[in-house]
Amino acid sequence: MMKLFITLYLVSFSLFSFSQEKGIASRLIPLPVSLEEKDGDFTLSENTKIIYTSDDAGVKRVADFLSDDLKNTGFNIATAKGDSKPANAIVFSLANDSKLGNEGYHLSVTPGGVSVMANKPAGLFYGMQTFLQLLPKEIESVDKVKDVAWKASACEITDYPRFGWRGLMFDVSRHFFGKEDVKRFIDDMVKYKYNLLHMHLTDDEGWRIEIKGMPKLTEVGAWNVKRVGYFGTFDKPGKDEAKDYGGFYTQEDIKEIVKYAGDRFVDVLPEIDVPGHSLAAVVSYPELSCTAGADQYQVRSGEVIMDWSHGHPPIALLDNTLCPANPKVYEFLDKVMTQVAELFPFEYIHVGGDETPKNYWEKSPEVAALMKKEKLKTMDEVQSYFEKRLEKIVESKGKKFMGWDEILQGGLGPNAAVMSWRGMKGGIEAAKLKHDVVMTPTDFVYLDYMQGDAAIEPRIYANLTLKKTYSFEPVPDGIDSKYILGGQGNLWTEQIYTFRHAQYMIWPRAFAISEVLWSPKDKRDWNNFFPRVEKQFSRLDEAQTKYAPSVYEPIFTISKSGADQVKVELETEPKGIDIHYTVDNTFPDNFSPTYTAPFVMPKEAAMLKVITYQGDKQVGRLIIIPMSDLKSRAGIK
Ligand code: ACM
Repeated sequence: MMKLFITLYLVSFSLFSFSQEKGIASRLIPLPVSLEEKDGDFTLSENTKIIYTSDDAGVKRVADFLSDDLKNTGFNIATAKGDSKPANAIVFSLANDSKLGNEGYHLSVTPGGVSVMANKPAGLFYGMQTFLQLLPKEIESVDKVKDVAWKASACEITDYPRFGWRGLMFDVSRHFFGKEDVKRFIDDMVKYKYNLLHMHLTDDEGWRIEIKGMPKLTEVGAWNVKRVGYFGTFDKPGKDEAKDYGGFYTQEDIKEIVKYAGDRFVDVLPEIDVPGHSLAAVVSYPELSCTAGADQYQVRSGEVIMDWSHGHPPIALLDNTLCPANPKVYEFLDKVMTQVAELFPFEYIHVGGDETPKNYWEKSPEVAALMKKEKLKTMDEVQSYFEKRLEKIVESKGKKFMGWDEILQGGLGPNAAVMSWRGMKGGIEAAKLKHDVVMTPTDFVYLDYMQGDAAIEPRIYANLTLKKTYSFEPVPDGIDSKYILGGQGNLWTEQIYTFRHAQYMIWPRAFAISEVLWSPKDKRDWNNFFPRVEKQFSRLDEAQTKYAPSVYEPIFTISKSGADQVKVELETEPKGIDIHYTVDNTFPDNFSPTYTAPFVMPKEAAMLKVITYQGDKQVGRLIIIPMSDLKSRAGIK
């Protein structure tokens, strides 16, 4: 009887896993617009050919990328120009189908061959990414793999993006990431059909782009002192302490990055963050400041420079702004924007504009004189004056002007586009004024926020879980969607020292953002999404890409029970995860008590230890919360 039971169990388990494997829709991120599963498989072999039917250089490039991506199969599959569609070939062709737009594609996988058709090479590239996701996970392996049946299930897919702006922002100022890291960032993002890399190139902690004729920006402004611990609490560097941590991109590096991105259909949006967040520029050229004594400042190494206790804008403890009343500032910006415009072919330049403290401007006689002359009544109007002058400079270089939502304050320039980060409201206001908007609200897409509990994540001041990210909707009710260009995830790097940790913070939340920005809104379904995330995890494992397992860990809700006891409530965002815990200091495993309902910690317990399992596999990390922390979360003194 037991044997029969085990046999039935194994049969049903393998049927179940077969149908999971076979279901194409159970493996793709982002989900395509339409997908029809067909019988049979296409099997890649050493005799497979990659054919491109067009003379367009972009089409050949996509075919070559695929050939490269297939190298780890051990087959050397060359590309060739051809007019026919021979058997056992993967064929890339240009089409003329208005439904597909500039980035859509049609992918047909049959036992006899694969065809990718698109109006533009970008569409072929995205069709290729989908095809790669249909192949076994080992296709992502960093090493050659043997003994894999390289099968892709037969299907017909028609697909195109919901938004044209599908971005990720990489803050390369707070910590510098070299060009090889940036290229890897691009390699990772295009697999999920992102098409825009926003580079935050300047901030208080470092100026990262060579500007000819302004050598101090990178000789001085690109270097600070490395400190580890909690950013924002570090000691101010001593005057003589070596400033040897940092780096910058030469103009040749920038050209290389832009070319690398462009070859992969990624636009690069440069951000020069002014007039706030400009300490590195001020330290390099103190005459850009309104404040006497700026020549004594140093590039920030994570010490406190703002008082946020009064809210936004902050009160600056030193003046990290460019002086809006100083003609030299506009000459400086003209020089910078000229070179930035030449280096970055993308249509927009992002000029920052966020979190500009005004307390030093309030004390400046030059700013007072400017206000009188220009009839400016408030400090917001002073910033708006600055932004409008900068908009003219940017436009004089043939570029469109974009800034964070603070550029709305005091009046938006005539053609300015807004990147809404303090929630959606700035974006809503700008769209109502008929300005273009990119939605990047902190509450849904800030990839620097913790993905799980502070007891285990590198600590930062806010949380953002995968499920919350997946619930991001870029087009608010009642807003004309034509003004919403799209959205992006923002990776700020104050606490991110290494590229491995950057990957940890990006994935899996960037899976969610990718699907929000690419797939039809009505296809979005968390219960269907999470199993696909798990499939992608196994691909990231093959690619040796780091990701956070935090989604497998519990969300802790800690409250007071009675006068002085701690009540613990636990949940996980995905279904099917068992939470096990101990309160007796021992290490929990899947034999420890299973969480089923809220419980009260024994009065004299020292700590709560929690771990999660999926079946008999540990999926979450061990989380330990001492009683003192639980009490403080519960508000017990
Ligand atoms: C921002 O997060 N300060 C744009």
